Amino acid sequence: MINILTVIGARPQIIKSAAINRAVKNKFNDQISEKILHTGQHYDEEMSAFFFDELQIQKPDFNLKVGSSSHGKQTAQMMEGIEKVTLELKPDAILVYGDTNSTLAAALVGSKLHIPVIHVEAGLRSFDKSMPEEINRITTDHCSTLLFSPTKTGVDNLKKEGFVCDNIKINSNNPGVYHVGDVMYDNSIYYSTYAQNNSEIIQNNFLEENDYILVTVHRDSNTDDPQKLINIVNAFVEVSEQKNTKIVWPIHPRVKNLLNKPEYEKIADLINNTDSFIILPPTSFFDIIQLEQNARLIITDSGGVQKEAYFFNKPTVILRPHTEWVELVESKHAILCGSDKQKIVAGAAKMWSKRFDSFPEVFGKGKAAEEICEIIIKTLSAPC
Ligand code: UD1
Repeated sequence: MINILTVIGARPQIIKSAAINRAVKNKFNDQISEKILHTGQHYDEEMSAFFFDELQIQKPDFNLKVGSSSHGKQTAQMMEGIEKVTLELKPDAILVYGDTNSTLAAALVGSKLHIPVIHVEAGLRSFDKSMPEEINRITTDHCSTLLFSPTKTGVDNLKKEGFVCDNIKINSNNPGVYHVGDVMYDNSIYYSTYAQNNSEIIQNNFLEENDYILVTVHRDSNTDDPQKLINIVNAFVEVSEQKNTKIVWPIHPRVKNLLNKPEYEKIADLINNTDSFIILPPTSFFDIIQLEQNARLIITDSGGVQKEAYFFNKPTVILRPHTEWVELVESKHAILCGSDKQKIVAGAAKMWSKRFDSFPEVFGKGKAAEEICEIIIKTLSAPC
């Protein structure tokens, strides 16, 4: 039996973890045993606890409850807790997802304790080191022994950073690198019918198919400077008026908290005093999938939402100057507009009339989680 300690902490990681958790439960439970450690980076009910029930994921065995603080303090507190659990549990490997501070903390602990780190969503790069996530990704990849990339671009990025990628005699000095597809594509396929039957978000908000724009904004680069956020919100209002359509906006707690601050008062007033917006609390996974599937256009700075938009053939405006998911832009399903008001308005006008009924199959075939489990079993059963 291979004992894996999976470390999660932020909302998208809880959702990503569902795919491997499901594969282990359904197919590999006599070969892999998974324990879950939640760092507590996200702690609001609707950012965390809710998803374990909705997606039927195994509840965390450990919760560090670190909460929010500066990056240094938050990461340090996570490391202390993860190290304690790891020493007690002595897992055969630590599995991490994506690029958050929780990912980084677990990768550092694993590599320092000489426990193989498995990174799911390896190799992605925005080539912008001012993003906390870019530092987290690069460091995590270089601490990992097994790297699972969702895209071919990810593998190419790793090769450029010196990874040999021969997958022979894998160990911490010669990590294994695999292109397996995206566990979130697995999830989107698996949950899309459940979402139709288990979400009433469309009816409850009186929305019509293809008749609203879904937006999400949470990146620190778009929100921590009030001027940038006001540009973005002004762009939303202009697009809504031009297209005579509603903007549906599930608000991330980071933004909700900021809007209560005096420097953001103008933005809060604008949101409250125009009839462009339908503001929602953070949604469940089934609700967001339903909102994505029924939207005419999606405007977002989230990596997860831009990809789900692609899976559901929805044109997308990305509120960032670059993306790790370059395939979305290359296939013209998405356009990069940053936080400039005019660029967002022009980008939305351009994407508004686009219609897609298929997409290049660059994220695998919906079986990434099973493939990852098979490679973990093959590699960790052999002496490293
Ligand atoms: C984090 C990740 C980001 C990921 C995002 C998904 C890092 C550096 N960033 O960003 O990559 O895309 O999660 O959502 O790890 N807050 C609450 N309740 C919560 C959680 C957060 O109110 O349950 C508020 C707090 O004011 C907190 C702020 O949101 O300070 C930011 O939270 P944090 O976890 O630091 O970063 P995210 O913006 O969520």
